Amino acid sequence: PALAQAFIAEQVEAVRKQVGDKKVLLALSGGVDSSVVAALLIKAIGQQLVCVHVNHGLLRKGEPEQVIEVFRNQMKANLVYVDAVDRFLDKLAGVSDPEQKRKIIGAEFIRVFEEEARKQDGIAFLAQGTIYPDITESVGVKAHHNVGGLPDDLQFELVEPVKLLYKDEVRVVGKELGLPDGMVYRQPFPGPGLGVRCVGAITRDRLEALREADAIVREEIGKLPEVPWQYFCTIPDFQSTGIKYVDGKGQRYMGWAVIIRAVNTVDAVTATVPEIPFSVLCTMRDRIISTVDGVNRVLWDISEKPVATIEFE
Ligand code: XMP
Repeated sequence: PALAQAFIAEQVEAVRKQVGDKKVLLALSGGVDSSVVAALLIKAIGQQLVCVHVNHGLLRKGEPEQVIEVFRNQMKANLVYVDAVDRFLDKLAGVSDPEQKRKIIGAEFIRVFEEEARKQDGIAFLAQGTIYPDITESVGVKAHHNVGGLPDDLQFELVEPVKLLYKDEVRVVGKELGLPDGMVYRQPFPGPGLGVRCVGAITRDRLEALREADAIVREEIGKLPEVPWQYFCTIPDFQSTGIKYVDGKGQRYMGWAVIIRAVNTVDAVTATVPEIPFSVLCTMRDRIISTVDGVNRVLWDISEKPVATIEFE
């Protein structure tokens, strides 16, 4: 904490010196890195920071609400919340190729962010949650999205206050800045979000079912004494037969399946599957089946990486 305090004091000075009385724009996803940068810059320059939170409709349950609560209500940040849900889902309608989905989400994100940037007067800097591993290595196998790719007239000078820190150090700084544990210790979540977990062409009914089931899985697995590195669920694009009792009579119907996935890894290049107590699996099954509309089957994925990747797409 003493080191973190010293780091914060040093960065606050450095940012004030770099920025002067100009304005800084930040794409605030609610992930660890952008949240810590936001908290640091609020401390350094207050209302000169403009945070833009884009809700692309593929965030997890409660995420946009948490960003608004923490940054607008508690930290009094200058936060622009953009509800772009329909825009993204319309663009994604009928698209089933995973890399195409990623491209659309990434490109649309830049477009929305660019539009917001143009609405702001006097922005001179762009803040980014770049961390040290982003510079030294490119982990992961799939296309990652960030705010690169803005047009030339929006190429602002960069403010990257945590670019020399490793992830665990970023978390310590975030704690010290008063961010909630749920934000500082949250598991990795892909930029394209639930978009790559709603397998195939995204539909609103499956996306909603996925979001609800994911919240249950995060809550139940999150209670384990040893929490896996990443744990979530996926909704495949096939239905299977279920049975419903109406007036004591069984009726067959088609419903969606939810696949629970939990992995441990150091670098996401290889991953193993931790043991989840059967009672916990059953609790998740019961909660999902009884509360998530349209789902009649719960599966547990025991595949390791390789040969399976962590995500389904
Ligand atoms: P895979 O599925 O390749 O995932 O085994 C490795 C890690 O990367 C995350 N991931 C992504 N992160 N944009 C991201 O920001 C993406 O498109 C993306 N795809 C996968 C995944 O959650 C896992 O932690």
